[in-house]
Amino acid sequence: MQTLKKINDNLFYLGGNDRRLALFEGAIPIPRGVSYNSYLLSDEKTVLFDTVDGAVEELFLENLACALGGRPLDYLVVHHVEPDHSQSFLRTVSLHPETTVVANAKSAAMLKNFYGFEGKLLLVKEGEELSVGARTLRFVFAPMVHWPEVMMTYIPEDGILFSADAFGTFGALHGALFADEVAFERDFLSDARKYYFNIVGKYGLQVQSVLKKAAGLDIRLVCPLHGPVWRKDFSWCLAKYDLWSRYLPEERGVAIFYGSVYGHTKNAAEMLASMLAERGTLTAVHDVSATHVCDLLPEAFRYSHLVFASSTYNNGIFMGMEHLLSDLKAHLLRDRKYAIVENGSWAPQAGTLMQEELLKMRNMSQIGEKITILSAPTEKTKTELENLAALLAEDIKNS
Ligand code: FEO
Repeated sequence: MQTLKKINDNLFYLGGNDRRLALFEGAIPIPRGVSYNSYLLSDEKTVLFDTVDGAVEELFLENLACALGGRPLDYLVVHHVEPDHSQSFLRTVSLHPETTVVANAKSAAMLKNFYGFEGKLLLVKEGEELSVGARTLRFVFAPMVHWPEVMMTYIPEDGILFSADAFGTFGALHGALFADEVAFERDFLSDARKYYFNIVGKYGLQVQSVLKKAAGLDIRLVCPLHGPVWRKDFSWCLAKYDLWSRYLPEERGVAIFYGSVYGHTKNAAEMLASMLAERGTLTAVHDVSATHVCDLLPEAFRYSHLVFASSTYNNGIFMGMEHLLSDLKAHLLRDRKYAIVENGSWAPQAGTLMQEELLKMRNMSQIGEKITILSAPTEKTKTELENLAALLAEDIKNS
């Protein structure tokens, strides 16, 4: 049974939720699910904006049939060819042979490569416009947000921006479609942050360039490919994107990441956290063995100061920590202060190796001396941690 939602008299939401997918892109755990969004504009012409993932294809096709109400589908605009938005593409165009696919040259090549599609195509360029009746579609290219072919569509008459992956979030919708109908900051922000840093975090420069294009537009409604639609307070969401894409921290505080074999490195991390809390410093602690790296990544970007505490393992960095540092480097973490705690029973060297990894990132500066634990924390360790807590708290207060 269709679940069509009316956004306004001419615009319908056709998407659906997947709450069973364990790993988005085969890599990112999404315990709260995800929505795949698609929209139909009904003007003199009918325009479908993107299709959906195979998981919600049947529902989407029912919604599409219902929204069309027997009218032909004139255009299918492809903003992004990643399969979570295109697995239903071929079935949609075969059910609607009357459709002209609207895409850019890069999308057209990908549609051919993924699906062998060589059908009716209208190729568009950056800034080009297409009149569909009372409304105009203006195509705004957004390369690398999140793939090179990505584009957005802006409808100037209504101030609507179809923003592709940008401004989207993990987390299935709970009936409500609009961001202002839910407690977004409480229920979606951590998923939005996780989505941003795992999906487009690497491409801050390209996100900044799209934000500059968006700044010149009168935007009243934002329709992303995942998560709620924005019709109010979009500037709040825009401000988050601006911060994230400039790699700036959201919180003046410390995120402590520890990798511990028998609990002694963990003990040091917990002591440091308590010492920081006593000084009134906002602190978060994460066990890299217990938390997936895709959840650690946004936490590292969120905080201004980071502490990495690792056991030495196989003469190297403990596995979870090694994975975290490699992911932070790949996602271009930069401009952070960090501190290092290492542990080793006979040849501690995780600290030196972590420092080497962190120095490969841009504008990272160490705070305090590296703290070395030989098997278990001692009174000397406690003093060194007290000194580090004082330095971190002072630096946060003054910066
Ligand atoms: Fe939601 Fe880049 O796909």
